[in-house]
Amino acid sequence: MGKRAAIRPVDWDGGRVVWINQRNIPWKEEWRRSSSVEELARAIETLEIRGAPAIGVAAGFALTLAVWGARGGAQGAMKALRRGAGRIRSTRPTAVNLFWAVQRMLDRAERMHDEGATLAGLKEGMLEEARAIQREDIEANMAIGRYGNSLVRDGDVILTHCNAGALATAGYGTSYGVIRAAWESGKDIRVIATQTAPLYQGARLTIWELTRDGIPATLITDSMAAYAMGNEGVTKVMVGADRILLNGSVANKIGTLGLAVIAKHVGIPFYVAAPLSTVDPKSRSIPIESRAPEEVRTFLGKVRMTVEDVPVLNPAFDVTPPRLVSAIITERGIARKPYERSLGNIIGARGGKG
Ligand code: MRU
Repeated sequence: MGKRAAIRPVDWDGGRVVWINQRNIPWKEEWRRSSSVEELARAIETLEIRGAPAIGVAAGFALTLAVWGARGGAQGAMKALRRGAGRIRSTRPTAVNLFWAVQRMLDRAERMHDEGATLAGLKEGMLEEARAIQREDIEANMAIGRYGNSLVRDGDVILTHCNAGALATAGYGTSYGVIRAAWESGKDIRVIATQTAPLYQGARLTIWELTRDGIPATLITDSMAAYAMGNEGVTKVMVGADRILLNGSVANKIGTLGLAVIAKHVGIPFYVAAPLSTVDPKSRSIPIESRAPEEVRTFLGKVRMTVEDVPVLNPAFDVTPPRLVSAIITERGIARKPYERSLGNIIGARGGKG
């Protein structure tokens, strides 16, 4: 039944952060280590570390590094922490987990500082908080897996997009966590993964994880999604999210909106799985990251696929409106329309978001 421990893509390793370089998967399993906040920021910008919850975990460890490397006592550490927070916040704008984790680290440090913590105390507190973010994400993912599994039937063919697996989280997966839980509970399921151009997180990362876990999988190009949903017996679509507004609008990898439209057209459910750290109850709109044109003009920066300098669009995410979202699976239960009420109740029951 292929039960292999899920990978932890970002971790703390005795004063340094260790991460698997996701740009090199599936060709090479390269683990990188650093004690530099700047290197962590670049790893997030270049997608060596990617996926909303994983960049939240990386943000926690990066700010731990900021304090661990600080000089000038507790005052110096607070200065380094605020500088580090600014740099980490500047890396990627869409996934709210990043901002949530940075704020959580700052809040903890400010509280400790107000209570007169020493530099040693701050170092310990930051590591404890970053580890809590990591541990809670795995717990949340496993709970999402259990709730989501109640929606999966024997024989389901699940179409997924991008990578919302262990690699994209602290180490289990959100929408992939549902697939993992269903498979581990013995259900006979099959996964169809889209390539997810232009950076191919589906082809490179999701297929790598599915193969590693022994879950039956088929790869398609993004443009085959409507055909696959109409002709290949797809029974549900299951995706992750980078930011979810209280009204149920879901930002996720570019192409997600198209899948939701097709799912509606063919009459199959479109599910989103995400931890509450991905829910942004304060914003009314979602900033969409626009990435370098070369990502579209070339195959992963290696081979040029078009005319040099052709104008391109490269939004990294799109927003699916709530009416196309059948349900949002969180660690506190499954939210359904109207989302203001269901998500509001779930967040309220948790006693606020932080
Ligand atoms: O640009 P990426 O690879 O960071 O985008 C990731 C996604 O869109 C994922 O679907 C999302 O973060 C959910 S991950 C659990």
